[in-house]
Amino acid sequence: MASGEDAEPTVRQAGFDHWAPYYDQSSLQRVLYEPVHLRVLAHARRRVPQPNRILDIGCGTGRLARSCAQFFPGVPVIGIDPSAAMIQRAATSAPPTYFQARAEALPFSSDTFDLVVTTLALRHWQDPCLGLAELSRVTTSNGVVVIADARISDVLPKLPSAVATRNGRPRPLTRLISYLLERQRGKWADRLPAALLHALDQAGLRAVHVEPLAYALATATLIVSTRRPARPRTGLLRQRRGQQRLHDAGPGRIRT
Ligand SMILES: C[S@@+](CC[C@H](N)C(=O)[O-])C[C@H]1O[C@@H](n2cnc3c(N)ncnc32)[C@H](O)[C@@H]1O
Repeated sequence: MASGEDAEPTVRQAGFDHWAPYYDQSSLQRVLYEPVHLRVLAHARRRVPQPNRILDIGCGTGRLARSCAQFFPGVPVIGIDPSAAMIQRAATSAPPTYFQARAEALPFSSDTFDLVVTTLALRHWQDPCLGLAELSRVTTSNGVVVIADARISDVLPKLPSAVATRNGRPRPLTRLISYLLERQRGKWADRLPAALLHALDQAGLRAVHVEPLAYALATATLIVSTRRPARPRTGLLRQRRGQQRLHDAGPGRIRT
């Protein structure tokens, strides 16, 4: 494990740090995360039967990274996540290697991974377009990227009305749901897949498969894309990374 993140975690990062000890026990694992991981792995195996190097961006406690290591024995798998606590839990098991890093500043050389996966994490990236440009940069030409993310505004209203009120008054959970819904409104991540397809295109990735996923309460969108042989547009990447370096004491490039 390596750490390259700021000493001061963002509020969101602190939320994930707090969640890390309970994350694997969350009921979301069964209803959303595990089924999504299985779909992602199925697509990954179909598209890249023998990958050379795999990257999981926003790996959390490393569940998908570990599954990748089992699905593709002997293939180096790397997981990155900005949450120190998530990475700490992930690193208790080998073989995947973990680094504390953000999608927006991946500490890897260009053209490194021929399979990149990211599940239920993209909506949390601070700058999704920069993250996707970085993702594209570290993917080999014609490498495959499998992204899956939930649509929160589809999930929350489906919660049974029984949890909504008690004696006609909103329960705390209902208030939380309203708050989350309000925060989601207008966020591009929740307009998947249209906004994501556009962002992928801007990052130099070509979507080759889009699949809506629906489970008991949850819906998600899965997108498989390949990196276009031409280099991605780097103007945004250079400009944003330049700005970022002013603020970050980012990790050095890790050559894998
Ligand atoms: C809901 S969890 C999903 C974890 C894992 N991918 C899974 O499927 O179980 C979201 C993860 O995204 C990570 N995350 C948040 N901001 C990120 C960023 N800018 N870059 C990469 N990962 C990020 C969080 O720390 C958290 O571990």
